[in-house]
Formats: sequence, C-alpha cells, structure tokens
Amino acid sequence: MVNEFGEVTLFEKAKQSLVATPAMVIDLALVRENLLKLSAYLKPHGITVRPHTKTHKSKRLAQEQLNTGSVGLTVAKVGEAEVMAEVCDDILIGYPAIDAHRCSRIAKLAHKITLRVAVDSKYGIEALARAAKEAGSTIGVLIDLNCGSDRTGVATPELSLELAQHVVCCGEGVRLDGLFFYPGQVWVPVDQQPPVLKKIDDLLKKTLNLWTEAGLKAEIVSGGSTPTAYQSHHITSQTEIRPGTHIFNDMNTVHAGFCTLQDCSVALICTVISDAVDGKVIIDAGSKSLTSDKNVTQPDSGYGYILEYPEAQVSKLSEEHGELDVRNCKSVPEVGDRVTLIPNHICPCLNLQEQVWLQTENGLEELTVDTQGMII
Ligand SMILES: Cc1ncc(COP(=O)(O)O)c(C=O)c1O
Repeated sequence: MVNEFGEVTLFEKAKQSLVATPAMVIDLALVRENLLKLSAYLKPHGITVRPHTKTHKSKRLAQEQLNTGSVGLTVAKVGEAEVMAEVCDDILIGYPAIDAHRCSRIAKLAHKITLRVAVDSKYGIEALARAAKEAGSTIGVLIDLNCGSDRTGVATPELSLELAQHVVCCGEGVRLDGLFFYPGQVWVPVDQQPPVLKKIDDLLKKTLNLWTEAGLKAEIVSGGSTPTAYQSHHITSQTEIRPGTHIFNDMNTVHAGFCTLQDCSVALICTVISDAVDGKVIIDAGSKSLTSDKNVTQPDSGYGYILEYPEAQVSKLSEEHGELDVRNCKSVPEVGDRVTLIPNHICPCLNLQEQVWLQTENGLEELTVDTQGMII
C-alpha cells in the first residue's frame, strides 16, 4: 500500500517479500511509537506502566517495553512469568494462580525476582504462603477488588480489608503490597469514560481509606486496560496500569475509537487462493490463524479488515480458509495477490502463530512467540 505521502508502507514491503503466508508481521517502528506515546501521556500524571505480555508473548518485545519506561511486566501464567524473568526482575501475575503446582513454581521463582500475585481468596493467600515458606522465599500479594468486570475480585472494600489482614496474619512467605483491579468492562467511547472511571476511583478511595484506618498500606494500586489507557488520570488512586493490546492495537480498538488504523502495528499478510465462486474470494487464513472472535463493538463487521479492499468483508472463516465477500468492492483481488488483514482481537491470534515476523529498518526478522500456548 502507498500512504498519503506516496511512500510504500512497511506492511507493503513485507507483502512484497518471499515470506510464506499467512504471515503475521509486526512493524517495530509502530510498536515503539505506541509505547512511547503512552509513556509520554502517563508521565505527568505520575502513573507507571506494567504492560500485560499476554498480547505479544515475546521476550524481545517485553525488552522494548522495558526500554521505553515500563516499570515491570504483567503475565497471566506462571510459565509466562518464568520465561519473562529472563528479561525482567519485577513481574506481576495478574491471575489467581493458587493451586499447589503453580504456587510451588511461583515460590521458586520468587527467589530470583520480585514476584507478585493478584488474589481474591483466603485459600489463595494461604496456598501462596505455604509454598513460599517451604521454599524460603517471599511472594508479594495484591488483593483483587471487583470494580465491575465481574470476573474475579472481592465484592466490597470491607472484604478486601479482610483479605489484606489475612495476608498480614499469615506473616512469613507473603507480603501485602497493594490492591489490584481490572476495568475490563469499560468499552464505552473515550468521551463517556470519565464518570465511569470516577465511580471506580471512588470505590478505590473508599477501600484505601479503610486500609489506612486499619494501619495497612497499598504501595501499589494496579489497574488499567487498553480501552481506558489514555483516561488513566481519571483514576487518581492507581499507581500503575497494565495495558496489553495497546502495543499492537487491532480492529477491536479501532472500531471502538481508541486508536486509528495507522496505530495498528501488526497485520496478517494473506494470499488469495481462489475466486471460483461468484462474489467471493478466498484467502489462505482461517480461524487457525485468526480465531473466530467477533468484533467487540461491531459484531457484524466480519473477522478483520483488509487494508487494500476496505469494502471487502471477511464474512466467514473455516479452519484454513477465509471468505471475503467482495460484492461491494470497486476492484477485486485476483488469485495469487497478497492482501493485508488487521485482525479483530490480536492477543489470541499471536497465540496461534508458531512464528511471526518483525519488520525492522533492516528488513524482516524472525521472531519467536516465546510463551505461545502456555496454559499453566
Ligand atoms: C487482568 C488483566 N489486566 C490487564 C489486561 C490487559 O487488557 P488490554 O488488552 O485491554 O489492555 C487484561 C486483558 O485481558 C487482563 O485480563
């Protein structure tokens, strides 16, 4: 594709290369722009960033985040923590990793790096404390408070205080480090977010006041997501945010108005493999490369967006085939042509790729998806 200045875009260079398709290509310059832009916004507000690596799953990209001001990393899985510990010594497991197997691996890793876990149960606190005592290490604990996403997190400030006191009671093995929340339910447009975020901030303030009255301190108040990233200043109680998707962006964040297509730093280069059926062309990427995730705010918009043919709809996916409805297109791609697709939800797409490509100023480099497929 040629941009408004008549320059060939980076995805176009990847498209013209001999790389086999479907090929997921990450534009490193755009990645850096996304990271630097967020750091620049957060700095004057005194909020730090601890990005969620579930989006990219790559040590190299985690390193980019640490180079551009991230204070540490977030992961969901213990396996991810072990891998990311090779590049970072301060990791939050933003997931209730509370079974004996996970706790024992966490306790072992806590010897090497500063490791924290978000929990919402006495069971979890005790399991972590037991494992850490056995290993002779200390695990930091953040108490997970439900702020409306209704997935994990205790329901009230009072319950969070009870758990915080339980951490202190357990003593050896666990250390109370703060509070955790995830505003994953907030997908309203940016201009409608301030009152929603203020309500969350009020809940956090109430919680922190209760803790203070009980003589407890939350050094860390960890929140954030990509949809709310640039409205983080409305939650004045938070000390750090954990955006994941923002490093890449995708059609979810584009259609919801949180970024533009120009901010999407990852695309799937696909080849047209058939045009035998009227009104359709078929590409070589189906649900095995793209997942079957519909768009969050525009569920009828198809399974992604084709940069070169905006009127084409990615209307149906089977495992190996993607069907483009091209009936509304001014021109139609031919068999053998390559097209550039921006997926709906980039995080699980990365998880499906054995290998991806990094477009740098030196050309395309192979990039391993280091924590691909880790479920524990
Ligand atoms: C606990 C938690 N924190 C942060 C994130 C990052 O969210 P996003 O990708 O919207 O930035 C997620 C994503 O699923 C999450 O589950």
